[in-house]
Amino acid sequence: MSTEPLNGPERTSEFYDVSNLILVELWNENFHHGYWLSEDDESSNQVATDRLTDLLIEKSGLGQGGRVLDVGCGIGTSTFRLAESTPAEIVGISNNQSQIDEANRRARARGLDHRVSFENADVLALPYADGSFDVVWVFEALMHMDRVPTLREIRRVLRPGGRVVVTDLLQHGPLSEDARRTVETHMEEMLSGSLLEQEAYRALVAESGLEVVELTDISEHTKKTAWRVYDAVNERHDEMVERYGQEVSGLLEVFRNPVGLLPQVGYLIAVARRPA
Ligand SMILES: C[S@@+](CC[C@H](N)C(=O)[O-])C[C@H]1O[C@@H](n2cnc3c(N)ncnc32)[C@H](O)[C@@H]1O
Repeated sequence: MSTEPLNGPERTSEFYDVSNLILVELWNENFHHGYWLSEDDESSNQVATDRLTDLLIEKSGLGQGGRVLDVGCGIGTSTFRLAESTPAEIVGISNNQSQIDEANRRARARGLDHRVSFENADVLALPYADGSFDVVWVFEALMHMDRVPTLREIRRVLRPGGRVVVTDLLQHGPLSEDARRTVETHMEEMLSGSLLEQEAYRALVAESGLEVVELTDISEHTKKTAWRVYDAVNERHDEMVERYGQEVSGLLEVFRNPVGLLPQVGYLIAVARRPA
């Protein structure tokens, strides 16, 4: 599999300078999808997004602790949840300085800064020694990154036998011409690479020198995310523009058309390990 077009870390960082504010207002402090138990489950966005974090914690196998790298950590909300439910030592990285400042401020406020810290770093040049982490999380961040080189760099910092837990968007089957155009436009606006089908994901993990532990399609549980975002933008669009200025209107348009509204777009949890 070839590499994907790069958006460049500077562009993603600028994107998040604006998105950080809008996401907290319209979604919550977790910058990832929610997990609902069934169609009738009306859990809040906060509860549903925390539930997805809990699922990742479970898949990380960190009951006895260990050293964790959280790649693309946002403002650290899921990092803190992981820290509060395991004895792990965690380093979160993002290429957006406002996120790092806010995450470190919150770590101090929660009294977690002795074992949770955040650093500004680009995923393709991780400032850590080979084999220095037991677990790496890439929680809804890989779509912004060139996937194979990213997973290879993650493999480098994982100890042999260590695992990487990833969530990503997933494509189900072929797309019509219309759907393909919608997906391409949206992914470009979200500074994201292409959508992959589950089998392509399996190939990508192998190409990165990792072994698949599991690939779990959780699309049925995450589907409400797109509709909740759509409703929130429609309800609060004018208020957001009034508060943050006209410069947020482009981003609001992007969030008003989440790609997850398409039936062919779902969500995947991938767990892989560095061969021992
Ligand atoms: C959708 S957010 C997910 C945040 C967090 N994992 C969560 O679940 O709340 C994507 C994250 O990836 C980070 N990111 C994007 N490109 C990056 C890069 N090249 N290097 C490091 N972080 C990056 C963004 O700054 C952001 O923190």
